[in-house]
Amino acid sequence: MSFSNNTLADRMEHAHYPIRELFPIAEEIKRTGAEIYNASIGDPVPYFGVAKYIAKAYCKALKEGNASYSRSPGIFELLEEIAKRYKRLYGLEIEPSKVFVTQGLSEAVAFLAESLIQPGRGAVLFNPYYPVYAPMIRLFGGTVAFSCLKEERGWAPSKDDLEEKIKKAKADGVDLEFILIINPNNPTGSMCSRKELEEVVEVAKNNDLLIISDEIYDEMILVDEKMTCIGQVAKGVPHVIMNGLSKNWGCTGFRIGWVLIPEDDEGSKKLREGINNLATMRLCASTPAQYAGVEALSNVKAHRKFLRYMVKNIKDRAEFMQKRLNEIEGVSCQKAKGAFYLFPRIDLSKTKFKDDKEFCTELLRREHVWVTRGSGFGLDGHLRTTVLPPIEVLEKVAQGIENLMRG
Ligand SMILES: Cc1ncc(COP(=O)(O)O)c(C=O)c1O
Repeated sequence: MSFSNNTLADRMEHAHYPIRELFPIAEEIKRTGAEIYNASIGDPVPYFGVAKYIAKAYCKALKEGNASYSRSPGIFELLEEIAKRYKRLYGLEIEPSKVFVTQGLSEAVAFLAESLIQPGRGAVLFNPYYPVYAPMIRLFGGTVAFSCLKEERGWAPSKDDLEEKIKKAKADGVDLEFILIINPNNPTGSMCSRKELEEVVEVAKNNDLLIISDEIYDEMILVDEKMTCIGQVAKGVPHVIMNGLSKNWGCTGFRIGWVLIPEDDEGSKKLREGINNLATMRLCASTPAQYAGVEALSNVKAHRKFLRYMVKNIKDRAEFMQKRLNEIEGVSCQKAKGAFYLFPRIDLSKTKFKDDKEFCTELLRREHVWVTRGSGFGLDGHLRTTVLPPIEVLEKVAQGIENLMRG
C-alpha cells in the first residue's frame, strides 16, 4: 500500500474538536471587517490578561537560562508546590513523587487514554462532557458509555443512571476501566455536592473502576458552596486528579497541567509507571513555564488577589447572562455554580432549524454571534456560551440568540 492511497490511519476519523469547527466561517466574516460577538472559547487571557507576578517569573526563568529540557515528570520545585496546594486547599497529603506535570491537562488526558484504553475496553463519561474525552477514548479503540447528567436537577449525576449504564456496558462485553467526572463542569457550569461525589465513588468501588476527576475549574466557584476534591472522598479507592494553570491562574498558553495518582494499590502503581514512561517519550513540559508555575502556586497572596478579580467579574457576567437567556422565549438556562459557561436549552421546534449545529452556524453567519453547539458536547438542543466577555458583548450574544429564535 502506498502513502498516497492510504494516508491516515482509520482511527483518525475520531480526531476532531467541535469547539473550533466554526473557525473558518468566523475568519471569513472577520476578513470583511465585521465585528464578531465571540462567546465560544473558554480562554480567560483575552479578558483578564496574565497576572503580572506570573509573567515576571516566566521572564526571570528565561533570563536565568532555565530553558533547557527538564526532568520528564516535572521540576522538583513544581511537584512540591502542587502537592502543597492540595494540602492547603483540601487537607490532602500527596507525595510529590505521585504528581506528574503535563503539557496542559489535555496531555494528561492523552496519557491516561494511552495507558488504559485499548480495543475491548471502555470508560464511562457523564453526558454532556468536554469534547476531548469521547474522541480520545475512541482514538485508542475504546468504547464510551454515557451516563446522563440531570438537567432538571442542575445537571447533577444520578447514581441509578450510572449503575444502569455500567451494567449495560458490561453486558455488552465492554471491559470498563474508569469513570470520568468533570467538576466543576464544562459545559454545564454545575458543581457536584460532596454527597453526589460520594455516590460516584461508591459506584466506582463496587464495580472496581478507577475514578478520574478533571478539576481544572476548582477555584472558579461562583456560589457560596464549597468545592469538594475527589481526593477528599475517595481515600482508599483508586483515583486520579487532574488540573493545571490554564483556568484558575488564567495561563492557557503556558501549557502546564498536572496529574495526581495518590493511591498505592497495584493499579495505581502501574499507572504511575506508565505515565512516567510516556512523559519520558515527550521529554518534558515547557521549562520556563514550569518555573512560572512554581511562582503561580507558591505566591498564594498574589494568586488569591487575581482570582478574586476574575471570579467577581465572571460571577456578575454569569448572573446577567443566565437571567437574560431565560427571558428569551424557547430558551431555558440553569444557574452556573462554577467554571465560566452556561448551557442553555433551546426549543428547536419553535425554529426552522433541524438541530443545534444548523442553529449555531446560522447564528454566526447572520447575527455574527459565535457560540458552540450543545451536540458538540454530546447533547443536541443546547448551546454552550462562555461568560468571559464583558456584559455589553454578552448582551449582543443574547440578542443574536433571541433574534434567531424569533425567526
Ligand atoms: C474541562 C476541561 N478540561 C480540560 C481543558 C483543557 O485544559 P488545558 O488547557 O490544561 O489543556 C479544558 C479547556 O477548556 C476544559 O474545559
